[in-house]
Amino acid sequence: MGNGSDELIDLIIKVFCEPKNDSILMMNPSFAMYGFYASVNGNDVLLLDLDENFEIDKEEFLKITNEKQPKVFFLCSPNNPTGNSVEDIEFYIQNFDGIVVVDEAYIEFSEKESCIDLLEKYSNLIVLQTFSKAWGMAGARVGTAYSSKKSPGSLTVLKPLTM
Ligand SMILES: Cc1ncc(COP(=O)(O)O)c(C=O)c1O
Repeated sequence: MGNGSDELIDLIIKVFCEPKNDSILMMNPSFAMYGFYASVNGNDVLLLDLDENFEIDKEEFLKITNEKQPKVFFLCSPNNPTGNSVEDIEFYIQNFDGIVVVDEAYIEFSEKESCIDLLEKYSNLIVLQTFSKAWGMAGARVGTAYSSKKSPGSLTVLKPLTM
């Protein structure tokens, strides 16, 4: 549980990205706070431009991930602000050497299934949901993150700094 899903976005970046060394990948356009929290934490923001149908170009995704090796990929589905869902989400989870965060802030407005069931299958997946949208409780500041019980393979989880 987080102080809104915003806090969970921040925490995921803090856990998996080393300041000044790592980057995050996000769709463009998409929810601006992924880039905001990456920058605040000293991480680069890589933008994956959507095509004229607001879909991801898979070749561009593979190229950018191979070249730049981002640690976290934020997939907003349905996407804010374009409103469409990301097709073939498993392709991105399978082909990303890092954490894929599927932000389902607007899932209740979609006919698509949540990705929560995919947590059984993929240890590098995190699903975010929130009470702020369909439930109308943005003021309560309640966000939820669901993840696999398994450790995400070769990924390094940063240790907290000791004083
Ligand atoms: C896609 C998306 N994710 C997350 C949030 C953050 O919501 P909250 O921090 O209120 O849970 C928003 C809010 O606008 C959003 O549009």
